[in-house]
Amino acid sequence: MNQVPEHVAIILDGNGRWAKSKGMPRNYGHTMGAKNVETICRACHNMGIRYLTVYAFSTENWKRPDDEVKAIMKLLKSYLKTCFTLAKDNDMCVRVLGDLDGLDPDMRDTILRLEEETKDYGGLHFQIALNYGSRDEIVRAVRRMEKDREAGLATGDITEEMLASYLDTKGIPDPDLLIRTSGEERLSNFLLWQCAYTEFYFTDVHWPAFNEEELKKAVESYGERNRRYGGV
Ligand code: IPE
Ligand code: IPE
Ligand code: MG
Repeated sequence: MNQVPEHVAIILDGNGRWAKSKGMPRNYGHTMGAKNVETICRACHNMGIRYLTVYAFSTENWKRPDDEVKAIMKLLKSYLKTCFTLAKDNDMCVRVLGDLDGLDPDMRDTILRLEEETKDYGGLHFQIALNYGSRDEIVRAVRRMEKDREAGLATGDITEEMLASYLDTKGIPDPDLLIRTSGEERLSNFLLWQCAYTEFYFTDVHWPAFNEEELKKAVESYGERNRRYGGV
């Protein structure tokens, strides 16, 4: 295989359409979609990808019908619990991106424990974006900077690197490859700052059907590209 991206970000889309195509309720799609995250984590690890970031729930997704939001939250809670063993077995360091204050306290506690317990694992850095929106992330960053201004931060100290260090992705390299499943070709408020030079890969395959073979296709397509960063 050609060059492997260091950081792959994925917009997990199409759970609902996948379920519908099978004559099943949307929530079945979410259940199978959550299972697939596990498969793709292992596949990334095997392929030598160091960072994987998945978009699991956006700040806009709260607008979905109540029972769907409840079902997704329940799934995410149980997923986070299984993550403790998953992380241990696969040498995964887990981080959650997004506004934890908007989540229920029980979930927040699980996240903080999970991050603490897995922080020294170095095989795969796995980020889950949950209650995440890029605009919200930037607003939260600016608010924290404003606080630090009161503590002495000067205007001249503000640089791109410095702003990046206020984002949820602090310390994580920018994605090399962004994959969106299920045919839509938009960012839906995901990693706007971080994707400045990311290569995009879109596929019609719905998320629950996006397997290791599909991931390999995406990585191969990336390997064939000539990456440029604004120069000649
Ligand atoms: C992605 O699948 C999962 C979440 C956004 C939580 P969707 O639920 O968006 O599935 P479609 O796009 O309606 O098919
Ligand atoms: C984007 O998918 C958000 C996540 C995958 C978590 P959506 O299905 O919510 O996005 P839109 O509504 O099609 O833009
Ligand atoms: Mg969708």
